[in-house]
Amino acid sequence: MQTYDITTIDGDGIGPEVCQATVAVLREACGSRLRFQAHAGGASHYARTGAVLPEDTYAACRQSHAILHGAAGLPGITYADGTEVGNDLHLQLRFRLDLFANVRPVKLYRGVQSPLRDWQPGQIDYVIVRENTEGLYASRGAGVNLRGELATDTLVVTRKGVERVARFAFELARQRNGAPRDGRRRVTCCDKANILRSYAFFRAVFDEVGAGFADVERDHAYADAITVHMLKKPDFYDVIVAENMFGDIISDLGAGTVGGLGIAASAELGEHHGLFQGAHGSAPDIAGQNLASPVATILSGALMLRWLGGRHADAELLSAATRVEQAVQAVLAAGETVPHDLGGTATCTAMTAAICRQLG
Ligand code: IPM
Ligand code: MN
Repeated sequence: MQTYDITTIDGDGIGPEVCQATVAVLREACGSRLRFQAHAGGASHYARTGAVLPEDTYAACRQSHAILHGAAGLPGITYADGTEVGNDLHLQLRFRLDLFANVRPVKLYRGVQSPLRDWQPGQIDYVIVRENTEGLYASRGAGVNLRGELATDTLVVTRKGVERVARFAFELARQRNGAPRDGRRRVTCCDKANILRSYAFFRAVFDEVGAGFADVERDHAYADAITVHMLKKPDFYDVIVAENMFGDIISDLGAGTVGGLGIAASAELGEHHGLFQGAHGSAPDIAGQNLASPVATILSGALMLRWLGGRHADAELLSAATRVEQAVQAVLAAGETVPHDLGGTATCTAMTAAICRQLG
């Protein structure tokens, strides 16, 4: 039986709690199939050593089957240019491992109250695919600040970058059952093609790729308009693809419509590597108090199992992915162990134990 080497990076704030909770759940689900190796990284590590992503950690990430991360970043630990150090852990891994598709499911689970009145579980179920290696983020660390009087960052859109993320989105739509509203397989391009050439180019390449997927509907929405649509007609969406910065923004909005970032999973995928983490931050204000919800990271762990299972044709791992997702959904639906971010009082350890019991 193949075993898989998983590099874990606890990181900062609540990162250690949620990452270790996820390791416990994945061990419960997969036994000895997964071998975990913890490595250092993040803002607190930088404060001690000057390295936010030590080379031995990066080497382990490059050589392992997948990467599981808690969270990174601490307020006040910034570079001279004012940007946050901790975020560089994510960004260095994204750019150096070329993790071009940031996959962010937006799904309303039974037992979770959406702030959108009248929408029920099953009616909000789409995936945001955020281009993860260019866009406005290509300017990270490369922007201009001239004499403290002028600052610029450049939005970069490449043909290769759009082709591969659009193709990923269309292929993902083929694996799904279509939008809740009408069952139509649909990919929506989120852009501002009406205003900027870079986004007009993004849309044009999206359409070129989409022309090869006659069975999947092509849809377009401007980034401002889609924020309204995501609130007024969330059931219309199946897969949304967006440039990096727009994807960052609308994925938080999407998470907010289904319970918040405490339930927001993410899978950052490239051709050869995968980084799995909750889409939330390090929440230093509640760190070390057993208050954090591990749900987002555990659901990201399930995404990791599904990704590994697909890449290695490993039916047992695919089954484990489903069991972890179902265990989380069962705990949320039962409503007896509810994390703080969803209005309950369950601790991180209590949520973890409840999900492990469902797996047992
Ligand atoms: C996210 C976060 C990151 C981003 C930060 C932590 C680098 O907001 O993953 O959505 O800006 O992409
Ligand atoms: Mn974000």
